[in-house]
Amino acid sequence: MSQTVIAIDGPAASGKGTVSKAISEKLQFNYLDTGKLYRAIGAKYLEGYPPVDAAQSLDSNDLDKYDLKKPEIAQAASEVASIPEVRAALLEFQRNFSQKMPGAVLDGRDIGTIVCPNAKIKIFLTASLEARAKRRFIELYKHDKEISFETILKQIRERDKRDQTRSSSPMVAASDAKKFDTSELTITEAVDKVFSYIQTKL
Ligand code: DC
Repeated sequence: MSQTVIAIDGPAASGKGTVSKAISEKLQFNYLDTGKLYRAIGAKYLEGYPPVDAAQSLDSNDLDKYDLKKPEIAQAASEVASIPEVRAALLEFQRNFSQKMPGAVLDGRDIGTIVCPNAKIKIFLTASLEARAKRRFIELYKHDKEISFETILKQIRERDKRDQTRSSSPMVAASDAKKFDTSELTITEAVDKVFSYIQTKL
């Protein structure tokens, strides 16, 4: 029998990482932040590696080697993520992960559509551009006082556009995904709402 897979997709700073981690902890499921894979490839690309080589040789050490939260790495991740060979190189790892016992939560952009189209539960989290930029600004400002809200807003807008319009696995809600708008929700409220929905489906 296949494992219970929970696919959580959505744009940058929609809350999917925090919500996915909390859900995985509540259910004692394995958790994979697939954005980290693309960010690690983006970081290697910024160091001069050809992106497809970086994707094909990616190993777990690469995920700890860089400060993957950096905005320039996020932008590079979004760029390399539009290359079909990069996406293809990550598919098997993500699918194998999704079959871990006793279940798995994966978050990303294409989990419900391409990586795990048969996931038992699919969630698509959204929030307004302004709400997402504000969250990301608050998070990044703690480490970098030079950063401006306008720059973050522009970067997220660009990343949304690139992620939504690429031809290979664009970010889109699966037709059977349940959508939640987190613009007006606290983290606790978002987790509670999503978790209540998941409980009705398990
Ligand atoms: O979720 P994140 O912000 O860490 O993702 C960084 C970039 O990686 C995102 O802009 C697009 C890409 N990505 C993707 O294309 N598919 C995924 N499943 C996860 C991330």
